[in-house]
Formats: sequence, C-alpha cells, structure tokens
Amino acid sequence: MTTEAVSGSATAVAHPSLAMIKYWGKQDTTENIPATPSLAVTLDGLDTTTHVVLYPSEASGSPSDIVKIDGVSQPIQRYKGFFDAFRRLASENGIDLTRWWFMAESSSNFPSAAGLASSASGFAALVLACAGASGLGDVPDTRDLSAVARVGSASAARSLWGGFTQLNAGAKSAAPVKDASWWPNLRIIVAEVEKGPKSFSSRMAMESTRLHSPYYKAWLEDSSILFRQAMAGLESRDLSILGPAIRKSYMRMFATMFASDPPIVYWKPGSLSLINACEKIRGDGIQAWETMDAGPQVKVFCLDENTEAISRRLQMALPGVNLRICTVGGAPVLRNG
Ligand code: DP6
Repeated sequence: MTTEAVSGSATAVAHPSLAMIKYWGKQDTTENIPATPSLAVTLDGLDTTTHVVLYPSEASGSPSDIVKIDGVSQPIQRYKGFFDAFRRLASENGIDLTRWWFMAESSSNFPSAAGLASSASGFAALVLACAGASGLGDVPDTRDLSAVARVGSASAARSLWGGFTQLNAGAKSAAPVKDASWWPNLRIIVAEVEKGPKSFSSRMAMESTRLHSPYYKAWLEDSSILFRQAMAGLESRDLSILGPAIRKSYMRMFATMFASDPPIVYWKPGSLSLINACEKIRGDGIQAWETMDAGPQVKVFCLDENTEAISRRLQMALPGVNLRICTVGGAPVLRNG
C-alpha cells in the first residue's frame, strides 16, 4: 500500500568518486548499465551540496521537476530517467510521488562538467536529498539509492559510499570495498589544468567509442584484468602494485578513444606536461601515479610524505596550476531542511 507524500525539504552533501580503474562504455544505454568494472576512491575536500524541496502539483498531470546548478536551470530531459527511477523506488517503499514534483538546487566547490566527476557527486547528493525531502530518509537500502543514482550517471552509483567502491560490469548498483579509514596516508593531488567545461560529455564520448573504436572489444577484455590487479594493490595498500594498474587503466581508456573515428581527445598540452612530470618523479624512485577522466585535469595518487615534493615538481612542470590535496573521503551526508 502507498501513502500520499507530504511536502518536505532536505540538503545533502556528496563527494566525487574518482575511478582508479575506469568505467567507459555501456552494456545498456537506456538503463545506463556499465560494460566495464570500475574501482574508485571517494575524494574528501571536493563537495557538491544539493537542496531539494518537494512540492504538490497544482493540477493533475505529470509533475515538472526542476534542477538548477549554480542557479542555472538544466535541461530536464537529462534528469528524466533519474526522477522516474526515484519515483519507482519511492512507490516500492510505500510513498506515492506521482502528484508531486522536485525543485533541486545544486552547487559545488569545484568546477562542474570539467572532468572532476561532478556528475558523480551531483547525482549522489541529488538522490539522497530527494530521499530526505520525500520522507524516505534511511528507509531504502543504500544500494537502492545507488541504483537510482546510476540511472543519472553510472559513476554516481559509487559516490553513495565513502572510502573505496566498486561497480561491476553489468551491475545495477555499486558496492563498498574498503571504508575511508583503510588507507590513512594515501593522498590524491588534483591538478586543475583548465577551468572551462569539457568540449563533449562523457556520455556521448563513451557511446561514440563503443560504436567507432576498433579497440573497444580489447578494452572491455583488458579492464577486468586491470580491475583484479588494482584490487590486489588496494588490499595490500601497496602503491607499487595499485599504481601501475591505475596508469594502465586510464592510458588504455584514452587509447581506445584516440582510435575512435572521429577521435576523442580530452587532453591539453598542460595535461601532457603533468603526465611527463609524473614519469620523471617515478624515475627518481617516488610513487606518483597519475590518472585522467573526461577532461584535461590530472589526478596523482601518492603517499602523504611525498605530497610536498610532488606538488613542487608539478608546479615546476606547469607553473600556476591549481593543486588540491585530497584524502580519502567519507560517505555523503543528509541534513533535513
Ligand atoms: C571517465 O558516469 O559521467 O569518469 O554514466 O554516461 O553519466 P554516464 O557517465 P559518467 O562517466 C564517467 C567516466 C569516467 C570514468 C569513471 O568515473 O569510472
């Protein structure tokens, strides 16, 4: 039996989920099911805050949800699958939202749509705030919220937990692997090479790679091997095992994109300067393993004791680059009201 919702509001704060082993490609584009397994870390210090208010529809008919990022209304078509999935989940948990609509306002303390996983923290904060505003609170399992976030953006399925998370190929929801206290001296240096939004969305780019890259099949096969290597490195907290798997994953993801026709190139000259710098730093015996996503930014995995030395060398390689030092972040939090 379902009961009518009551008006409510909630605020949630979530962090990006940075993939060490990349999700790139979908098994199912409608349901947004990943074709590769991914292993990620939640980043502390980068926050997306989303405030959601639930309003009754004045008249019957379909509700018109609104999403604003930094005060700017977003094309609601991009969010339709997400809100449909959320209403289904609410109904399964006894709350009828068919005659209610959501107003969501979101902002981040880092650039959106620039390859810093803002869609991961964005949809994770959104699903949690919607749950709070509709009175679902802690009722659904986190895995159910993760599955709804996945419909919005598959990487967001991982942002529902802190620490380290995995999202298997073919999976509907992510799962926690290790909590945020697992690796206290791990650091991630986020180097902001460029501030502007990326030239094409990861969604379009990964679909184009699937359809037009002759290396796509090899990428799928290889990603499970790299996933297992990375899991072993994480389990032993050994960057000399995890690091090479991180590096191979992003390099092979981009190799598949470069081979696509037309090619997909997110890299900028500054990205390459930092990649080269990391290689030199490693040549001097310091663990510094870089990765990149759908944008020009570079993120470097290292240990606390080497953070200063590595930051200095990244600054020398790309003068003026903005660096943020992140630790492993916690789970998203919900505040009512
Ligand atoms: C390179 O999760 O943004 O960051 O599911 O189409 O919304 P959609 O894509 P999205 O892609 C993230 C791709 C990546 C790798 C990763 O986070 O695993």
